Amino acid sequence: MLETVETLIAKLVDKVEYPRATELFSKLSGGKRLRARLILAIAPEASTAPLLGAIVELIHSASLLHDDVIDEAQLRRGVPSVNATEGSKTAIMLGDILYSKAFSELTSFDPRIARSVAESVVRLSVGEMMDVAMAETFNTDRSLYLNMLYLKTATLIEACTYSAAILAGKDENAHALYGKNLGLAFQIVDDILDITGDEATLGKPSLNDFVDGKVTLPYIDLYEVLGDEEKQRLIQSHAKALDEEEKGWIKSKMDEHCIIEKSYAYARALCDEAIGVIGEDAALRAIIETVIQRSH
Ligand code: IPE
Ligand code: IPE
Ligand code: MG
Ligand code: MG
Ligand code: MG
Repeated sequence: MLETVETLIAKLVDKVEYPRATELFSKLSGGKRLRARLILAIAPEASTAPLLGAIVELIHSASLLHDDVIDEAQLRRGVPSVNATEGSKTAIMLGDILYSKAFSELTSFDPRIARSVAESVVRLSVGEMMDVAMAETFNTDRSLYLNMLYLKTATLIEACTYSAAILAGKDENAHALYGKNLGLAFQIVDDILDITGDEATLGKPSLNDFVDGKVTLPYIDLYEVLGDEEKQRLIQSHAKALDEEEKGWIKSKMDEHCIIEKSYAYARALCDEAIGVIGEDAALRAIIETVIQRSH
């Protein structure tokens, strides 16, 4: 089934009728296809599920193209990003092509599905803006941070699970809640991996988020438990290039206060709640585990 999604993705990009777009898009291959997998797992019998999966993967790819411009990221999926090799203008325009093609194809779906996916991209974009704005200061507000995560990452995943439930005639609200919690847990794990992962596995330098000004959940939790002088030291390190000594200090403080375990426990609690709403669905339980246990 996932092969059908891959074929449809290639077909949609070909339908743009611009060989350069096809060529550049091929450089973006190799994602985990989480969003398409979720749709197929919820609606395996629905004939249009693979097309919806292909559409949301185009949307996701477009969001990554723009995200890498915004974050000035040099690597994506372990290879140089499109902005790094072709420049930001090309990355933005390719993202626009993919977004527009995806929205155009969405019109063949039930309006509730089309609206939910399109609206989720509005929220994703608001979340990206908030992410950038929040990196300007040392944000210690957990709920503000979690709301931004919900917008930038969880809303698209929530729209996928909601829409797939409609295709399958299942409970769309329960599946939307599953997707929301899975999406939040997914981004929290992404934030953890930025701290615990090594450069080879991540395809980017470690502690990259903090250097970029992003005070992710582990840093918010760490700040809360540090003493006053240590708090000042952490604030001083925010949003600047860090030498090995400073990186080592941050990691040792995280170890001392079991911060990574705490963030994992929070992601796990979100997943447990997600499992609670979908019940005995083995495929959806398995996807939850891959999200928690992933290493990249
Ligand atoms: C990366 O998403 C961006 C985030 C929302 C954290 P994925 O980790 O799903 O990206 P790919 O598609 O597998 O590369
Ligand atoms: C997720 O944010 C990007 C989108 C939701 C578009 P990040 O900036 O944390 O994603 P990565 O770490 O670059 O994949
Ligand atoms: Mg990024
Ligand atoms: Mg980003
Ligand atoms: Mg990240």
